[in-house]
This record gives sequence, structure tokens and C-alpha cells, in this order.
Amino acid sequence: MSSLPTYTLNDGTTLPAIGFGTYPLRDDDGTAAIESALTAGYRLLDSAVNYENEAEVGDALRRSGIPRDEVQIQTKIPGRHHGYDEALESIRTSLETLQLDRIDVHLIHWPNPSVDKYVEAWKALVTAQQEGLVTTIGVSNFTAAQLDRIIDATGVTPAVNQIELHPYFPQDEMRKVNAELGIQTEAWSPMGKRQAPFDEPPVADAARAHDVTPAQVILRWHHQLGSLPLPKSATPGRQRSNIDIFGFELSEAEMNAITGLGRPDGRLFGGDPNTHEEM
Ligand SMILES: NC(=O)c1ccc[n+]([C@@H]2O[C@H](COP(=O)([O-])OP(=O)(O)OC[C@H]3O[C@@H](n4cnc5c(N)ncnc54)[C@H](OP(=O)(O)O)[C@@H]3O)[C@@H](O)[C@H]2O)c1
Repeated sequence: MSSLPTYTLNDGTTLPAIGFGTYPLRDDDGTAAIESALTAGYRLLDSAVNYENEAEVGDALRRSGIPRDEVQIQTKIPGRHHGYDEALESIRTSLETLQLDRIDVHLIHWPNPSVDKYVEAWKALVTAQQEGLVTTIGVSNFTAAQLDRIIDATGVTPAVNQIELHPYFPQDEMRKVNAELGIQTEAWSPMGKRQAPFDEPPVADAARAHDVTPAQVILRWHHQLGSLPLPKSATPGRQRSNIDIFGFELSEAEMNAITGLGRPDGRLFGGDPNTHEEM
């Protein structure tokens, strides 16, 4: 049985301190990679309707033989399903596709401000939680103003806000906003995807000093920031080393040097939640 450190969320549930990103794992190879991540010890799987792999995630869980209540499945409502009724339908369809009777964590994938229906989607998640379809509800890619708006409309604060966060884009401000509201920050593209700063001196030097890989340094940096990273790898060896980040500690100087890699244009593809639309 896996024993990872955990975070306790504002709804009283707990999440493991690191999860597994499943995009773009699909088909038989994808199912095998997700099952291998479970074997490596991951107990939180991050999916989305738009990844078109909820069936693979559900299959990998069943094939792994790990008891259902030891694994948390997280998925997301896409922009095209933001109306209240559409969002509830989206949640029910995700349950069917995953072949589960409950989703552990359900997020709004992007706010899509031009559509301006994310408050409705949030109300649908509140209903789904009350009906027991979903345990924990949250959002992804929400700004401070967008968070305020859904909290004002419902009185319910998201438990999670999953945002782009890596050394080139450390998101000091949004991490602070989330923390002040009692929202757990999750990190997407936690290593910076294909632009990972593995060779940058603060990362490479720390890797040498602690006898770990640059990826482990970056994922440990997340942990010490209080961010829950969701690294993706299709490679079993990398899956195992990426989760093995709890046996060393970065110094304050090492942490600051890595955060110092941040730059204003550090986003991977210009995914500004105020303008980016993803249906
Ligand atoms: N909410 C959102 O809007 C949003 C947006 C983007 C992503 N996400 C989530 O975040 C997850 C992770 O993001 P991501 O896949 O974009 O970025 P990432 O996890 O930072 O990087 C994944 C890439 O790094 C490689 N890699 C993994 N471990 C490595 C290691 N130890 N050494 C060298 N290379 C390594 C992987 O290659 P191999 O697979 O070949 O090992 C893959 O190409 C996604 O899967 C998804 O669940 C959410």
C-alpha cells in the first residue's frame, strides 16, 4: 500500500501530496502507462473530459487491482458544458465513462470568460456534491476575481485550484491567493513539459548536490512550496523516480534560486485564464 504525505483540503478530505497527470495517455498504451503509474505508487490520477481518456483511467484502476477507496480520480468539466444542466449532464457522463459511482475530485477545466457561464458550472458542481456524485469540488485556471465571483454566488469555496506552475512560471501571486482562501494549489505541467529547465544551474546544481534527478529537484521544489504537482510520464522508470521526492530537502537558497528562474512570459503557450478559451 502506498504511503505518501497528504494535504487536508478545506472540505475535510485528503489528497496525496503528488498525483499523476494522464494527458495525452490514451488507448492500450495509455491504459498500460496509467496502470504502471498506480503500480509505482501514485494514488491521484488527473484526467479531463477533453483528454478523452476517462475510459482508460477507469480501466487502469480496475486492472491494477488496487482497492477503489485507495485511489482518487480527478476529472474536469470542459468549456462547452458550462451551462447548469449541461454541467450536471457532463458529470453523469464522466461517471459512466469512468465506470464509477463517485468521482473523487471534479474541477471546472477553464473559466472561459467569453462564454461567461462558469458560475453556472460551479453551481452544478455544488449540486453534484450535495447529491453524492462527487466528493471534492474545485476549479482549474481560475484567477482571483473569478474565484471571488463563484464564492460570492454560492458561499462555497473550491477545495482545489489547478494552475500552470513550474520554475519558469512560479505563480507567486496565485499561490498566495489560493492559500489565503484555503484552496489547495495543484500544479499542471509541473516540470514545464518539453521546456523543462533541467539544465538550468539552480536545478542541475541541486540535483548533483542531493544525488537526485533534475525532475526530482523540480517536483521537490513544488512540495516545499505547498503545491501539489501532477507530473506526467509514459515511462515506468521516470514514473518511479518522479514520485520519489520525500527523502531529501532543498535548502532555502536552493528553493529561492529555482523560484528565481521565473519570468513574466514564462507561460508555456499563453494560457492566460482571462483570455484563453478551451471548449
Ligand atoms: N488544467 C489544465 O489546464 C492542464 C493543462 C495541461 C496539463 N494538465 C495536467 O497536468 C499534467 C502534467 O502536465 P504536462 O504533461 O503538460 O507536463 P509535465 O508533467 O511537466 O511534463 C511531461 C513531459 O515530461 C517528460 N518527463 C516526465 N518525467 C521526466 C523525467 N523524470 N525526466 C525527463 N523527462 C520527463 C514526459 O515524457 P515521457 O512521458 O516520455 O516520460 C513528458 O514529455 C497533464 O498530464 C494533465 O493531467 C492540466
